[in-house]
Amino acid sequence: MYSMLRPLLFALDPETSHDLCLDMLSAAERLKLIKLMKSKVVSSPKQVMGLTFDNPVGLAAGLDKNGDYFNALGALGFGFVEIGTITPKSQPGNAKPRLFRLNDEQAVINRMGFNNKGVDHLVEKVKRRRYSGILGINLGKNKITPEENALSDYVIGMEQVYAHADYITINISSPNTPGLRNLQYGDALKSLLSGIHDKRESLSQSHDRRVPIAVKIAPDNDNEALKSITDALMEFKMDAVIATNTTLSRDGVQNSEHKDEAGGLSGAPLGKLSTETVATVKSLVGDDLPIIGVGGISSGDDAKAKIDAGADLVQVYSGFIYRGPELVGEISQSLR
Ligand code: FNR
Repeated sequence: MYSMLRPLLFALDPETSHDLCLDMLSAAERLKLIKLMKSKVVSSPKQVMGLTFDNPVGLAAGLDKNGDYFNALGALGFGFVEIGTITPKSQPGNAKPRLFRLNDEQAVINRMGFNNKGVDHLVEKVKRRRYSGILGINLGKNKITPEENALSDYVIGMEQVYAHADYITINISSPNTPGLRNLQYGDALKSLLSGIHDKRESLSQSHDRRVPIAVKIAPDNDNEALKSITDALMEFKMDAVIATNTTLSRDGVQNSEHKDEAGGLSGAPLGKLSTETVATVKSLVGDDLPIIGVGGISSGDDAKAKIDAGADLVQVYSGFIYRGPELVGEISQSLR
């Protein structure tokens, strides 16, 4: 069905088609028609971060930033859905156009800039959750918050979502919030993780539940940077690493009319770089830190490559835009 709709959707500007698609999906879920859109998903339960995932295929953050659509998206058979990135206060994001499809390359460039309705909106949505799978909530900082105060934004996010999240992601790798990626390095990373660690300790006690925390990293790190990042993640008892976010590289899209657009590149051209990042991270963390592999997965074989490189679970975003719900079933079958 998606392959029939796709030419129509791709004729629209990418952001309009994104909104239209999600509204249609949501209506289908409410009318109990979503089964018509779902592909055959194989259940193969897996324990990661102390949680049981029905299958290892997740939806990556950014598609449902506000928690408006996760019930419908979850009904497509994902083993887990990550919503966000959400910031403490609502913010408009960057000026449009800010989302570009590179069809020939099966890629996307975005500079959305964390456009979102703020954490209070998301919490109201997740309180009325119907989706029974694993729900991750991805946190970021507001653009106006100075880099040195970033921790306070993540702490606000943690306090608000803690009771509602199966796991929380700390996003320090989106390229479209000035300075955000600097939080991946040196003392900035250590003091951020130390604060997050302490906050989680106190929230665990007050809620009588330890919510796992994953940290999402960029694909544009060399081995030395990955060593110090992973050392810090383990020192401060983080529960998983998500590798990777979008890349600043333009390898593989040099012939596209959109190659010079600012923003992060995702989709097929990112696949190799993010798989290499997964492999390096695996060589550094062994079995001490689970890895969620994401970047350029648009087939069962791509997903298998991430698992072979050391990922425990995978997530998709751009591949889902190009392939639609059938991708979830295909990956679940190839990873069974
Ligand atoms: C993203 N991604 C993203 N990641 C994140 O942690 N928070 C976010 O808000 C967003 N927003 C976002 C918007 C758009 C339009 C895209 C294409 C991507 C990154 C996404 O979750 C994923 O890490 C990368 O896109 C790589 O995976 P794919 O797209 O190659 O499967």
